[in-house]
Amino acid sequence: MSSGIREIFQIITKMFNQVSSPVVGPAITTRNFASDVRKITLIPGDGIGPEISAAVQKIFQAANVPIEWETVDVTPVRYPDGKFGIPPAAVASVNRNKVGLKGPLMTPIGKGHRSLNLQLRKEFNLYANVRPCRSLEGYKTLYDNVDVVTIRENTEGEYSGIEHEIVDGVVQSIKLITEEASLRVAEYAFQYAKDNNRKKVTAVHKANIMRMSDGLFLRCCRETAEKFPEIQFEEKYLDTVCLNMVQNPHKYDCLVMPNLYGDILSDMCAGLVGGLGLTPSGNMGLNGALFESVHGTAPDIAGKDLANPTALLLSAVMMLRHLKLNSHADKIQAACFSVIKEAKYLTGDLGGKAKCSEYTNEICQRVA
Ligand SMILES: NC(=O)c1ccc[n+]([C@@H]2O[C@H](COP(=O)([O-])OP(=O)(O)OC[C@H]3O[C@@H](n4cnc5c(N)ncnc54)[C@H](O)[C@@H]3O)[C@@H](O)[C@H]2O)c1
Repeated sequence: MSSGIREIFQIITKMFNQVSSPVVGPAITTRNFASDVRKITLIPGDGIGPEISAAVQKIFQAANVPIEWETVDVTPVRYPDGKFGIPPAAVASVNRNKVGLKGPLMTPIGKGHRSLNLQLRKEFNLYANVRPCRSLEGYKTLYDNVDVVTIRENTEGEYSGIEHEIVDGVVQSIKLITEEASLRVAEYAFQYAKDNNRKKVTAVHKANIMRMSDGLFLRCCRETAEKFPEIQFEEKYLDTVCLNMVQNPHKYDCLVMPNLYGDILSDMCAGLVGGLGLTPSGNMGLNGALFESVHGTAPDIAGKDLANPTALLLSAVMMLRHLKLNSHADKIQAACFSVIKEAKYLTGDLGGKAKCSEYTNEICQRVA
């Protein structure tokens, strides 16, 4: 590498590290919390966020889950350097509790503060976004028995936030791929596959075009695969995966990929099983874990008691499993699935007429 290029690389890496520097704190431990009441940070979010968060709280209360919610506001505040960011009280809450549940946040387009979702990922080093997409019994879509998990690198790639204008009318956006982050997410994907009795991990890439960046990501996946001989490993181009996924989603099991590909492919997989209103996700980090529904704030139906709280509820179920509260997770999940299967109390997005509150009450009755 020439000294000029090395210098540019060092500046970019420094910029990147400044925005993504980890919050100092102990790593998450996996002790059994079953007998403790755990404090969990709750970020209700914008639009339908407060309604679906209230629904989850109500169901958790009915199911007697030993959780105390610490609700925080993440409306950006201005820091002394003039930049807007997450309020210190919200940052402190997640650092203290290590686990949070988050509703959708509105992102202003093209101006104002940077995406709060991105800030949260960077602040807490939430390096892996995990989205299980499974067909729900009783809710018919074009595909039956879909069961795929997308694991998306969550901190860098095309979403590094390094953009600048070179000259008038010419802008550049830098896709940053590091060995450290690629190995970290690959390791997470293989460990997830092993822990969850999955058979195969597919690395999704475009290393034929982005030879260096995706090439590095792919090399890290190959190296990690060698440490997990019991898990089958394959490499596929992103476009091939998209084609296969809509023709036969059963070809895939766990998929690991850089940030932008994961953003798009995980929404596509959500579409196979009934849409964003049903899909949960977890953001796993070095310093904590944040579970969130993958849909947005749904401004068109906000405040009308029409939202489907399932995605946030199933994200909260993922959170319970992370906390080793498996029996509570099983009970709530079974109640939710049985209400959907019965199809009497479905919300509008699933073709029903039920209000969010009616659907919620029905689940409450089945967990009590
Ligand atoms: N993770 C997040 O916080 C997140 C994710 C995506 C979008 N957003 C933000 O949300 C805002 C709106 O985005 P959008 O309109 O592109 O996407 P959206 O997901 O909010 O809405 C798309 C469509 O899906 C419907 N929908 C979404 N969730 C639903 C639910 N739970 N129940 C019933 N219907 C539901 C909406 O009514 C709308 O018709 C934007 O500001 C965007 O930046 C946030």
